[in-house]
Amino acid sequence: MKTQTLLSPANAEELFFTKKTTVVIDVLRATTTIVTALNNGAKEIIPVSSIEFAMKVSGNTFSGHTLLGGERNTKKIEGFALGNSPFEYSPEIVKGKSIILFTTNGSKAIVKAKYSSQLLMCSFLNVASLAKKVADSSELVILCSGNNGLFSYEDAICAGNLIDELFKLNIKIELSDACRTCHLLFNESKDDLAEAIAKTEHGIKLIENGFEPDIIYSAQSNIVDIIPFYEKGIIQILK
Ligand code: MLT
Repeated sequence: MKTQTLLSPANAEELFFTKKTTVVIDVLRATTTIVTALNNGAKEIIPVSSIEFAMKVSGNTFSGHTLLGGERNTKKIEGFALGNSPFEYSPEIVKGKSIILFTTNGSKAIVKAKYSSQLLMCSFLNVASLAKKVADSSELVILCSGNNGLFSYEDAICAGNLIDELFKLNIKIELSDACRTCHLLFNESKDDLAEAIAKTEHGIKLIENGFEPDIIYSAQSNIVDIIPFYEKGIIQILK
């Protein structure tokens, strides 16, 4: 399997993803929150790349079963029902709901990769299941959502974790230099993921804004086995 990691979506064109299996990672916090919301019974997530589009979709389509969620500068957006903390997406709140999600980096990365032949979402929470699912792909792209077009350490170590899980499956895998670097970073951080994530630029910002529990939560390895799968504008659990 030919595998490459994009350390940010900034330099990729939408058509780059055509015919590839893409795994999007935004550990803090979009893909962690998507995994959590679906695992807690949300019907679907609709990722959007602008707040205006989020408002438009929620006004037009899904009536009383829709929740608007997401963040700007880590905080809940005015007029939205939910922010981007995974703790807000509890079963009582999200069961049976369609959630329109806008986030600074994660939802935009997902939308950018929409022409992938398979588009899946990964976090530390579901990385082992994800690896098993993509193991038979011929061409895999790991897309780190990054931080405003720049590298983010937490996404890179999760990409490295995914590569580590692929190694365990004993498949033939051809890694780009970025993949090898992410794997080295993962090995460096794996003994205490929460501590490694807390020290990142985005981790520090989240702690300053009162979201330290989100970091501890997001650093948990393989607590769920669901795989979020994007098709035709909607993310659901892969059956
Ligand atoms: C993002 O998409 O940039 C993040 O998920 C931001 C956050 O909620 O911390």
